[in-house]
Amino acid sequence: MATDALIINEINSFYGDSHVLHNVSLTLKEGELLALLGRNGAGKSTTLGTIMGWLKPRGGQISVFGEQIGGLAPELIVEKGVALVPQGRRVFPSLSVRENLMVAQIKRTKADKWNMERVFDTFPRLRERRAQAAASLSGGEQQMLAIGRALMSNPRVLLMDEPSEGLAPQIVAEVGRIIAGLRKEGLSIVLVEQNLDLALSLADHVTILNTGRVAATGTASAIADDHETLDRHLGVF
Ligand SMILES: Nc1ncnc2c1ncn2[C@@H]1O[C@H](COP(=O)(O)OP(=O)(O)OP(=O)(O)O)[C@@H](O)[C@H]1O
Ligand SMILES: [Mg+2]
Repeated sequence: MATDALIINEINSFYGDSHVLHNVSLTLKEGELLALLGRNGAGKSTTLGTIMGWLKPRGGQISVFGEQIGGLAPELIVEKGVALVPQGRRVFPSLSVRENLMVAQIKRTKADKWNMERVFDTFPRLRERRAQAAASLSGGEQQMLAIGRALMSNPRVLLMDEPSEGLAPQIVAEVGRIIAGLRKEGLSIVLVEQNLDLALSLADHVTILNTGRVAATGTASAIADDHETLDRHLGVF
């Protein structure tokens, strides 16, 4: 049986008094890709922020490869092997490509594979532009940099928040190929996406949130065929 890379069990998250996540549970198996879907405001980014330790959940558990991480400080959660590619990319605009990657580097074990050379091998455009300020990159290049930054921490679990947002179709396809390549290498990935076709083409399993609650979960092929669920919770078809 496949190991569980990430388990969220019945978490509740709040912004002040505002109760946003209600008993959210999900499971990501090792080497698989879980698509986390839902309309605007459904709680997708809040779920990723809670995994990263930015919000402290009230109740519930979060574990990574069997180790509890719920309630730890964000920097400790990164050290445990969880990395986030944030919504809107959030690279440091005035730092160069190289500097953006350098500040993100964490070596966790001797078996770590990711370093700057490997990021540049994966994203040759970033090597060409390594001395340029991140602000001068195109949207697609900034997305590659955001992914490269996350990889520099040598994650075992990669969280990606809407990596295709605002990108031209051929760049979306390229980002899709990169994500498929990372999954093929054995990385365990949670992918938040508004682009349903992209998400379903990459995912093994799908969890759909609606107003902060899990509304549906299943294999990607079962969810792809369940037009009623897709229509009710995502407003498609
Ligand atoms: N910093 C915050 N303070 C208060 N409420 C917030 C904050 N961030 C998000 N929310 C609220 O929490 C709910 C969930 O937001 P969240 O950003 O997790 O949704 P999402 O599914 O990522 O949406 P999107 O697809 O638009 O990115 C929304 O009602 C939102 O208005
Ligand atoms: Mg979001």
